[in-house]
Amino acid sequence: MADGFLIYMSLKNKHILLGITGGIAAYKCAHLVRLLIKEGAVVKVVMTKAAEEFVTAKTLSVLSKNEVVTDFFDSNNSWNNHVALAEWADAIIIAPLTANTLAKFASGLCDNIVTACYLSARSKVFVAPAMDLDMYQHPTTKQNFDTLRKNENLIIPAESGELASGLSGEGRMAEPEHIIEFVNQYFANALPLTGKKVLVNAGPTYEAIDPVRFIGNRSSGKMGVALADEFAKAGAEVTLVLGPSHQKPQERSVTVIAVESAEEMLNACQKHFEATDIAIFSAAVADYKPKTVAASKIKKLENELSLDLVKTVDVLATLGKQKKHQLLAGFALETDHVVEYATEKIAKKNLDFIVANSATESGSGFGVDTNKITIIDKHNKLYNFELKSKQDVAKDIVRFAINYLKTHE
Ligand code: CTP
Repeated sequence: MADGFLIYMSLKNKHILLGITGGIAAYKCAHLVRLLIKEGAVVKVVMTKAAEEFVTAKTLSVLSKNEVVTDFFDSNNSWNNHVALAEWADAIIIAPLTANTLAKFASGLCDNIVTACYLSARSKVFVAPAMDLDMYQHPTTKQNFDTLRKNENLIIPAESGELASGLSGEGRMAEPEHIIEFVNQYFANALPLTGKKVLVNAGPTYEAIDPVRFIGNRSSGKMGVALADEFAKAGAEVTLVLGPSHQKPQERSVTVIAVESAEEMLNACQKHFEATDIAIFSAAVADYKPKTVAASKIKKLENELSLDLVKTVDVLATLGKQKKHQLLAGFALETDHVVEYATEKIAKKNLDFIVANSATESGSGFGVDTNKITIIDKHNKLYNFELKSKQDVAKDIVRFAINYLKTHE
């Protein structure tokens, strides 16, 4: 069951481009598309003219819920952009792969939409060959497979059994279930955080004064959103609790929970904390909020206006108290005594490590695209990093968290 769960996660929201070529096994692609959709993948299909002899584009279009591309030009004579299709894909599956298309792939021939997508691929290409047993064993076929392997394509081995020719032996296209298993296994093995749940919070919080005004801060949320993206790229299932921010994650698999106040942020984080493996809190939570929120807009009557403020809830410290198996980390933005103040927060909030940065150092802190961080772990060990883009800083933090998990599990 646990394995099944892992496998389910790896294709969720992935863009899969299925390329079908002209072999009898093409009829099994209807089932393959259904299985991919069931796994949570988004599927688009391209097919050769020969493939249309074995399965209709209409069937695959209904099952994939997307238009099927069979030619460089559609019925309106508009050009089908194979480059855009290949770019769209997180993985390309060619099934069945005939001996003819295999030879085209190996030599770089490009005479139909499937070969064009193959040559434009930026993602991993999986091929599921299907041919008669003698063709499968032919030295030329073997050489062509070697070329594909050398070019980092992944070959899903053909299976043994009765073949369309009436002969029996190796050459049948792998069953759709086995193709799914192979692709899932690849993603599961390839990514270091597959099966891990990550919780990130980011952005500012807004604390209401009245229905139209609030106390907030200048945090853009960029650092935390970049972190959520990088954790997702590492295979984790990411929940991002995001205060008011214009930023949004690029990775489709990230689940975003939009919140406004510190209290809402705590509630959302608390809901996911128990099941979380890694929690990294980068939000610039407002430290104070108005003691009371006016029910209607405060009118401009006096020359001076005082607001009574009370401390907001400390989201990180609250969850630090509840921490059991979780790796918990926070951020510290300081103007002075950066390392000293940040280190104090590790014990105060029961953290595994803290990411410290200086609000006064140029290129660091709020509103800029770069950051310069020092990570301090709970043993007070310091790790200094260069000034880099927030995306690259996020990569460093994810790498640090992965190593931390490895050495502390
Ligand atoms: N934090 C939080 N809830 C708060 C305040 C801070 O969860 N009410 C978290 C931040 O997300 C960050 C860490 O605590 O990960 C440190 O935040 P920071 O503002 O540097 O420290 P504070 O605890 O607010 O202390 P001070 O402002 O006095 O430095």
